[in-house]
Amino acid sequence: MSMTTAPAASKARAGARTLAVTSGKGGVGKTFVTANLAAALAARGERVLVLDADLGLANLDVVLNLHPKLTLHDVFTERCTLEQAILPAPGGFHVLLAGSGMVEYSRLTPDVRDKLLHILEVVRPRFDYVLLDTGAGISDVVLFAVSMAHDVLVVATPEPTSLTDAYATIKVLATQQERREVYLILNQANRPGEGKLICGQLQQVLQRFIEPSPGQAFKLELLGEVKNDPMVRQAVLKRQLLLEHYPGCDAAQSIRGLATKLLEQGAARP
Ligand SMILES: Nc1ncnc2c1ncn2[C@@H]1O[C@H](COP(=O)(O)OP(=O)(O)O)[C@@H](O)[C@H]1O
Ligand SMILES: [Mg+2]
Repeated sequence: MSMTTAPAASKARAGARTLAVTSGKGGVGKTFVTANLAAALAARGERVLVLDADLGLANLDVVLNLHPKLTLHDVFTERCTLEQAILPAPGGFHVLLAGSGMVEYSRLTPDVRDKLLHILEVVRPRFDYVLLDTGAGISDVVLFAVSMAHDVLVVATPEPTSLTDAYATIKVLATQQERREVYLILNQANRPGEGKLICGQLQQVLQRFIEPSPGQAFKLELLGEVKNDPMVRQAVLKRQLLLEHYPGCDAAQSIRGLATKLLEQGAARP
């Protein structure tokens, strides 16, 4: 088994559906989408935990205006219990926050890997959804965090650099983790239909480069597009959830659409 992949057994559904939110390029909206998607799912009655899996450069706390005294780092070093580090967040969900500027988490050690797996095992029976807000790129920490999830949501913007990096990331997920289905969220969409168009284009290129296993074509599925909306910047600046403070704006509607699609799929799955 590769160091950067979680054992397959951990993917068996026992409790929460685990979703990793990741991207090729940084700053495309992963943390914003994760926090607001969590709020949208919570508003629909789901029990949601968001784990800040951007272990070294966490900023979920900033987006949610939380000033955590206890983080994953304290759990890892046994300065507190897991229980104590699971904090309520605005928006009706829970969070496990990480610290910022922690060089020791820039590389995946067997110790960190085992502790993350253990934490997920313990929390999953108590929630319906666990969202992992990961860092950008294809470092071993990011790839490991993604490998723990049932489903992976790749966030990209329409910018060429973001799309190139999304393509590279998805290719690694398909080849290293043998994923045959990956979800795309096109964030900061400029016009309706842009997500569908871009998803189709990416899918075409990906199909050409991903070795198809028998009967298992690769599928990039559009979870949805989130509009480029000035209210998002407003909310982030004020450290507020868009869904709570500007629930009527375009981007908030888009995010609720993502939650609806996830819930419909969840219902259709075993
Ligand atoms: N749909 C959107 N419309 C407008 N601005 C956005 C949108 N999504 C994200 N942003 C801007 O992008 C910034 C970076 O988002 P963030 O979630 O921190 O990215 P990441 O977690 O991928 O690094 C936000 O602070 C916000 O200003
Ligand atoms: Mg982030």
